[in-house]
Amino acid sequence: MEQRVRSPSRLRGTVVVPGDKSISHRAAILNALASGPARVDNFLVGADTRATLDCLRALGVDWSLGETGGPGTTLRIRGPGGERLRESADILEARNSGTTMRLLAGVLAAQPFFSVLTGDRSLRSRPMDRVVHPLCKMGAQVWGRGDGAYPPLAIRGSELHGICYRMPVASAQVKSALLLAGLFARGETAVEEPAPTRDHTERMLRAMGARLSVEESLVRIEPLERSLSPLDLRVPGDISAAAFWMVAAALHRDAEIHVPGIGVNPTRSGIIDVLRAMGADVEVMEERQEGGEPVADVTVRSSRLAPVEVSGDLVPRLIDEIPVLAVAAALTPGRTVIRDAAELRVKESDRIATTCRELGRLGAHVEELPDGLAIDGVPSLTGARCRSHGDHRLAMALGVAGLLARGETVIERAGAAQVSYPGFWNDLTGLAGGELVRGGNTKRVRP
Ligand code: S3P
Repeated sequence: MEQRVRSPSRLRGTVVVPGDKSISHRAAILNALASGPARVDNFLVGADTRATLDCLRALGVDWSLGETGGPGTTLRIRGPGGERLRESADILEARNSGTTMRLLAGVLAAQPFFSVLTGDRSLRSRPMDRVVHPLCKMGAQVWGRGDGAYPPLAIRGSELHGICYRMPVASAQVKSALLLAGLFARGETAVEEPAPTRDHTERMLRAMGARLSVEESLVRIEPLERSLSPLDLRVPGDISAAAFWMVAAALHRDAEIHVPGIGVNPTRSGIIDVLRAMGADVEVMEERQEGGEPVADVTVRSSRLAPVEVSGDLVPRLIDEIPVLAVAAALTPGRTVIRDAAELRVKESDRIATTCRELGRLGAHVEELPDGLAIDGVPSLTGARCRSHGDHRLAMALGVAGLLARGETVIERAGAAQVSYPGFWNDLTGLAGGELVRGGNTKRVRP
């Protein structure tokens, strides 16, 4: 699918973004291990979370989705019970989803049966040794191509024992895989992070009755004494989806976009901090708790931005927002530098290389660094043909660039957006056309 985008003269409206992808994956996987049925409102129905649900069904988990296709979908889910899943008769397909593969690897390492996990071409080129090695230290039997480095992964469930593990990279997926394996291990499992990463797994496990403690950078989990309690929750709107509209509004000359109900967990809200540090008019209102997570309504208006340096512990707090942050930097006078972000090279695409190349086609001045990007702002971008490389976040970042560029931008393989935000192009078209956007269904704003 090709998407054409032009810059509208005004960019105004309310966008209800879909449920958070990370929280949706966890709500499905953790409830699949619980002792009874659970209801998850505002579940993200995207290609990645579908992959998780389909794997879970193959493992004996019952689920159904209510009204589908936009924010507000309810998932009802019930595992086979007794923390046990059932052996799948076939290979488990994680498709494009690293979260599906890594979190399920942690669960399946302790289930008394054989599993094979694979994925699409992008996922099969992403490193899995970061979960395979520590799981093997716990006594797991896991094999992958290249000495466990790449999928497919073959897992023979076995008796695990707790370990104390310092992660070499800051990764919430690795931390979560080890915590999930730790639920079924003998003795305590402790995971130390080099920098704070998203803590949705910890919050949810605690709420479900797991014995988990956090002390600075160390997370400890005790083996389950009794089954996890099912957890009914409402998934907050995805801040990583909202980030596209925040950047579009801050950079467009006549814009005001309101995004209600998004998660503002401090391990995820780096994009708000950076946009504010750049001088953006970002208003955060009605902070509250929903589903054990902080949630707020956010409004962003046209702003005059200045460059910043992004590095260190801030990076994991906005790792998925860097492609769209690069769009903001491309139009911000001065030099923005993003460092300590080498992890971008092993995402759905090599996002350092692809962001640099594709924004370059629109006239941005982006320099590739080994671990990030250096971006010299230009007064304007010029619409051009560009490629998503099958990467959802790059597709959407290019869509935002198209909203800000002169002339027409054509994005190839724009359908990649369905991985995390199936209504993205609808919402973009609605906003650009002066329509009020509500969860993919657009209504005309009354004059
Ligand atoms: C995720 C963690 C991050 C993030 C990914 C989702 C998660 O990856 O980039 O989109 O749900 O745990 P890493 O854990 O590999 O940093």
